[in-house]
Amino acid sequence: MTGSRALLVNRMIVSVHAVAIIGQPVFAGGYLSGDYDMLWPHRWGADVVSALGYAQVLAALVLWWVRGPRWLSVVSVLVAAGETVQYFAGLDGALDLHLPLGVALVTAMVLTTVAVWRPQVRRAAR
Ligand code: HEM
Repeated sequence: MTGSRALLVNRMIVSVHAVAIIGQPVFAGGYLSGDYDMLWPHRWGADVVSALGYAQVLAALVLWWVRGPRWLSVVSVLVAAGETVQYFAGLDGALDLHLPLGVALVTAMVLTTVAVWRPQVRRAAR
């Protein structure tokens, strides 16, 4: 796989992952406002977000392998680890951990999306 193709795949996964994780507080907000059915999309969203997090790690490692940037692998491993903790904190109802970690993960994914679409990253991955 060429560097530019690997970068495109990474940009797509990171972007979809960011959109999916932004949905999580939206569903959680509905649930906390009393619409208890919103826990279901949050539960499904948790599976989707986690799967995308692990896919992002694999894609980032491939990008690093083809001489792309290393930082995306480091960030992706940290985010995937955080999402794993987040998943079990959600199942445990440990909201004192789950809410701040959720905010941190959403912020991390928004920043990663901005960073991965910068033109400098494309030049470096050629
Ligand atoms: C800012 C982001 C997030 C907020 C505000 C949030 C909030 C919540 C809330 C209020 C609950 C219900 C807990 C309870 O009633 O005991 C919950 C459950 C849960 N959350 Fe989140 N969450 C967020 C992000 C995430 C993410 C990113 C994941 C997955 C990686 C996730 C996975 C789960 C799981 C698995 C549950 C348990 C669902 C169930 O019991 O069926 N959450 N979350």
